[in-house]
Amino acid sequence: MEVQWVGVEVPRLGPPHRAVGLIFSMLLGLWSVQALEMSVGKIPFLQAVNGSTVMLPCTYASCIGIEDLYFNWQFNDNGTMQKVCDSVIASETAVPHVNIYRERVEFVGKNQNNNVSILLWNITFEDGGQYTCFGRNPKEKGRNHSTIFTLIVVDELRVVDNTLTILIASAVGGGIAALMGFMLLKNFTLYVLARLEEKNKECLVTSSGIDNTENGLSGSKADSKPTPKKK
Ligand SMILES: *[C@@H]1O[C@H](CO)[C@@H](O)[C@H](O)[C@H]1NC(C)=O
Ligand SMILES: *[C@@H]1O[C@H](CO)[C@@H](O)[C@H](O)[C@H]1NC(C)=O
Ligand SMILES: *[C@@H]1O[C@H](CO)[C@@H](O)[C@H](O)[C@H]1NC(C)=O
Ligand SMILES: *[C@@H]1O[C@H](CO)[C@@H](O)[C@H](O)[C@H]1NC(C)=O
Ligand SMILES: *[C@@H]1O[C@H](CO)[C@@H](O)[C@H](O)[C@H]1NC(C)=O
Repeated sequence: MEVQWVGVEVPRLGPPHRAVGLIFSMLLGLWSVQALEMSVGKIPFLQAVNGSTVMLPCTYASCIGIEDLYFNWQFNDNGTMQKVCDSVIASETAVPHVNIYRERVEFVGKNQNNNVSILLWNITFEDGGQYTCFGRNPKEKGRNHSTIFTLIVVDELRVVDNTLTILIASAVGGGIAALMGFMLLKNFTLYVLARLEEKNKECLVTSSGIDNTENGLSGSKADSKPTPKKK
C-alpha cells in the first residue's frame, strides 16, 4: 500500500527523484512493517471450571529478531487494565526474570520457542475476563503489539455448551444455522488466507532490504500466491 501510494506521486518530479522516492518508500515500508506479532494461538478463548488451573498461552514472532523486548500480561478488570506480570527479554534465548503482580500467577513460558505463556492457579469467577498479551520491540521503533485471550469461568462445562446450542437452535432454524456456519467458515478461511499473505509480504519486504526494490516487490507477489495451496 505504502509503496504504491508514493510511487504515484513521484513521476512529477522526474527520473532522478524517482529512485530517491522509491528508496524513501521502501524505508517507510520498513518502518510500517508489523515485524513483531503476539499470538495466543488459533483459539483465543478458554472455558474452564472454577477451581481449576489454566494456561493463558502467548507466543511472539518477529521477522527482524528481538532485543530487549518488553512484554506484559494485563487483565481487563471491569474496564481498568491491571498488570498481571511483565518483563524485558534481552534476546531470543534469554530466560527473563518476570515480575508478578497478581496472586496465583506463574510464568511458565520461560521464553522457550518465544513462549511467554502464564499459568493461573485455582481460578475463581473473578478471574474470568479478557487478558491482553502485550509486546514492544525496541528494534522496530517501539511499536505496540497485543492480542487478547478470553477466559470464561463456569460452574460446570456442560451447562454453557447446552445453553449455546439451545440459543442457536431456537433463534434461527437448523437450515439457517448451517448456512451461517458455512459463511462463518468461509469468511474465516478468507481471513486466514489474507493474514498468511500479509505475513509473507511483511517478512519479504523486511529481508529484501533497501538495495533491490524491484526484486523485493515482484518477489513478494510471486511468493504470496503459493501460500494458500499449502494450507
Ligand atoms: C465453584 O464456585 C462455587 C460457588 O462459588 C463453589 O461452591 C464451588 O465449591 C466452587 N468449585 C470449585 C471446584 O472450587
Ligand atoms: C464494575 O463492577 C461493578 C460490580 O462489580 C459494577 O457495579 C460497576 O458498574 C462496574 N463498573 C464498570 C465501569 O463496568
Ligand atoms: C491451589 O489449591 C490447592 C488445593 O486447594 C492448594 O494446595 C494450592 O496451594 C493452591 N495453589 C495456589 C498457587 O494457590
Ligand atoms: C509454552 O510453554 C508451556 C509450558 O512449558 C507449554 O505447556 C506450552 O505448550 C507452550 N506453548 C507453545 C505454543 O509452545
Ligand atoms: C505504546 O503503549 C504505551 C503504553 O503502554 C504508550 O504510552 C505509548 O504511547 C504507545 N506507543 C505507541 C506508538 O502507540
